Amino acid sequence: MNPKSILEGRPALARCVMEVAEVAGYLWQKGWAERNGGNITVNISEYVDEDIRQKKAIAPARPIGLKLEALRGQYFYCKGTGKRMRDLARNPMGNGSVIRVLEDGESYEIIADEAVMPTSELPSHLLVHNWFLESGSPYRVSLHTHPIELVAMSHHKPFLQKDVLSQLLWSMIPETKAFCPRGLGVVPYQLPGSNLLAQATLEELGDYDVVLWEKHGVFAVDKDILNAFDQIDVLTKSAQIYIAARNMGYEPEGMSQAQMQEMSQAFNLPK
Ligand code: 13P
Ligand code: ZN
Repeated sequence: MNPKSILEGRPALARCVMEVAEVAGYLWQKGWAERNGGNITVNISEYVDEDIRQKKAIAPARPIGLKLEALRGQYFYCKGTGKRMRDLARNPMGNGSVIRVLEDGESYEIIADEAVMPTSELPSHLLVHNWFLESGSPYRVSLHTHPIELVAMSHHKPFLQKDVLSQLLWSMIPETKAFCPRGLGVVPYQLPGSNLLAQATLEELGDYDVVLWEKHGVFAVDKDILNAFDQIDVLTKSAQIYIAARNMGYEPEGMSQAQMQEMSQAFNLPK
């Protein structure tokens, strides 16, 4: 760790950033993070002390492109744009940075450790963080990645109808509904990094914790980064089981409606 790192002497913040690094390593190992693919942001405001509040910007303030009133004075760890997850896994503060949203609610400045520009998907991430605070949600992380099987499934229009994929993936193995109980929403294709993609993502997150960006990837939200990763991981496991069955030449039977209901009751899940 850089001796002047913002993580120095702040064990809770360091733990939080190290969890991001841990997940970045998993994303690379899974084959979901080619080159700079994917991004992570975490609202770290709960770890911010007076010294951090006094820190000067290390790069000129930049516009977010959206006005996000609830984010005034909030702090985020963000993966850097163009940075690789496999590098972030070893060195999270060299491949990401801490930003502060300014009092105007429409611009931000980088305060640590280095002037690493945040991810190009910042509009989606910050719009969603703004909504967490407005709605009193305990969620503090968002994770975007490119899981092979789920992206492949998003190239087939019948899978994009409402809740077709949720039902299919839940029925492949009982744990998927247990650990991704709100299912998988779908966002029709939009330009990466655009405000339109951000807006469409926010709308779907009212009903889902994980949304599929058509022909691009997934975007997941949760209280912490390991839980967000786990939700994508269980969905991907189901997609792999489905594809393995199809590769053996048959349509998998899937759990029956009665089995799904019994499971939902036993695990106290929404219907
Ligand atoms: P960044 O390198 O800007 O985070 O972009 C990666 C990506 O997956 C865009 O959708
Ligand atoms: Zn992407």
